[in-house]
Amino acid sequence: MSGKSDIKLIENGVRLDGRKPDELRPIKMEIGILKNAQGSAYVEWGKNKAIAGVYGPRVMHPKRLSNPTESTVRVTYNMAPFSVEDRKRPGPDRRSVEISKISSEALSKVIETHLYPDTSIDVFIEILQADAGTRCVGLTAASLALADAGVPMRDLVVACAAGKAGGEVILDLFKDEDNFGEADLPMAIAPRTGEVVLLQMDGQMTNEEFEKGFDLAYNGCLKVYEMMKQALLAKEVQQ
Ligand code: CDP
Repeated sequence: MSGKSDIKLIENGVRLDGRKPDELRPIKMEIGILKNAQGSAYVEWGKNKAIAGVYGPRVMHPKRLSNPTESTVRVTYNMAPFSVEDRKRPGPDRRSVEISKISSEALSKVIETHLYPDTSIDVFIEILQADAGTRCVGLTAASLALADAGVPMRDLVVACAAGKAGGEVILDLFKDEDNFGEADLPMAIAPRTGEVVLLQMDGQMTNEEFEKGFDLAYNGCLKVYEMMKQALLAKEVQQ
């Protein structure tokens, strides 16, 4: 049977969307876009569109969940019903619970949570349009929103994925590469210390390919980090 899975994902070093193997999709970042959140950001990354809004540190509700030694970072990742081709059923599902959890863990690594015992820092990530890599886009938006809210952090969290498609190790997979490729390797780092705060992989790669993918994703994060710093500076200049 012939179908979309027969398409050549990469030919003569050029991907279906015209990118080179180590090229990121175009990225646009805007900070402070919501009036009612303490901090917010909008990130367009290829065809992905994500908004993040931050509240806190604020008194934790319900109180029994509060931690007397530090603030609790709670992330809610949500995909809008219209964000994907087949309407997504509204509300949480296993995937969104997983992405919320790994995002909370990644952000907790850089936030100075010990400064705010008994509180919560609530981060909401809304995916308006999805085209693979939304956990990275969402985390990047969340990190910018936290900075916008003035939440003390040791570092920003920066995320980017690499993977394998059409037999090649490539940076920042878009939907067709994610669907019909061999592997996806999302990563998030705290660039100042070089600490890896998220690393996941699905699919298959050899040891050598994994190492190449790791380096590609890491360097991709560093490029995104430069854009984040520029976006934050631009916001400061505006104020
Ligand atoms: O988005 P990310 O790559 O972080 O997570 P994923 O679970 O690997 O999903 C890859 C892509 O599949 C998403 O970005 C969406 O474009 C798509 N997807 C979808 O079409 N419908 C869903 N219910 C979930 C994901």
